[in-house]
Amino acid sequence: MAGGPTTPALVAAVSNTGGLGTLGAGYMSPDALRSAIGEIRNFTKRPFAVNLFIPSEPRVPDAVVVDMNQFLDRFRVELGLPLTPAPNMTQRFHEQLQVILDERVPVFSFTFGIPDSEVVAELKARDIAVIGTATTVHEALMLEEIGVDAVVAQGSEAGGHRGTFAHPFEQAMIGTMALVPQVADHVRIPVVASGGIMDGRGIAASLMLGASGVQMGTAFLTAEESGAHPRHKEAVLKSSEDETVVTAAFSGKPARGIRNRFVEEMSQYNGEIPEYPVQNALTQDIRQAAAKLNRDDMMSMWAGQGVRLAKSKSARELMLDWIHQVDTLLCGPAGGSQSARR
Ligand SMILES: Cc1cc2nc3c(=O)[nH]c(=O)nc-3n(C[C@H](O)[C@H](O)[C@H](O)COP(=O)(O)O)c2cc1C
Repeated sequence: MAGGPTTPALVAAVSNTGGLGTLGAGYMSPDALRSAIGEIRNFTKRPFAVNLFIPSEPRVPDAVVVDMNQFLDRFRVELGLPLTPAPNMTQRFHEQLQVILDERVPVFSFTFGIPDSEVVAELKARDIAVIGTATTVHEALMLEEIGVDAVVAQGSEAGGHRGTFAHPFEQAMIGTMALVPQVADHVRIPVVASGGIMDGRGIAASLMLGASGVQMGTAFLTAEESGAHPRHKEAVLKSSEDETVVTAAFSGKPARGIRNRFVEEMSQYNGEIPEYPVQNALTQDIRQAAAKLNRDDMMSMWAGQGVRLAKSKSARELMLDWIHQVDTLLCGPAGGSQSARR
């Protein structure tokens, strides 16, 4: 989870409890990424993953950018920010990737697209396992074709950005329950189910659907080690399943988050929303200032449809609860694994 929730402490706690902790590094500078990797290694000797965004360079007409920037000024006035700033659109995928190669991170995962097969080969030549994100069977097959080791099947319940890259996003809003078995039937690589999985029931169900593992985001947002903004954590803990919405208002790429005033007002915008990463750059000052001022009416608060199941505990406690639940569901009340009794 890029943007702060996945602190080194959270990543390490998940890995130390038998999961694969993942650092969401999409927005990190190469230096910050290198030092976060070092911190994770201080906290755990177990494998962990780093996740990046595959870059895109959409052509957005200047007039679309100017109109949007002017519309956004209503929020800037309220936050006391300079009006219509020039957007800063740095994407640093190749420098970030170099850090991952240099550091020989155990697992690299990615979303938002498909890298060249040479990138995958370079990673694998350094014994780095590679995981891609798909939202349809077609995307999963494309990822298998370029040589990834496993594929995340991201259902429409998922919090955060849609990983869709080969379809209009509306066509790829397939629920986890429908997506996972169809992907599992069509690829030979392991499938990782994701979207709406919040506890042992979701994990066990995913295994029944043909997944080899699960990827959980929202369930970790409220972990004690999570670096999510306190208002974001609070919002997740008090929201219900009907309060999330998929919106492109914050970043230009559809993402699921908790509905707030920014999303509502942006839905009244009649013009075109610039594509990611342009809109993301345009709203950056607003999101940052809102977070500083604890203004959750203008912050992006990504979360999935499982929000009502979120719990505030340490990551280790969450993990042990889920392991115990899965053991009980799959092996009966006596459980099967030693880990559940630790
Ligand atoms: C706050 C937040 C940030 C996220 N950031 C990323 C990211 O940087 N990279 C990525 O591959 N997925 C990201 N995701 C999506 C997750 O990988 C995963 O697909 C999703 O959380 C699964 O659904 P769930 O939230 O219902 O568990 C993010 C999700 C959330 C909630």
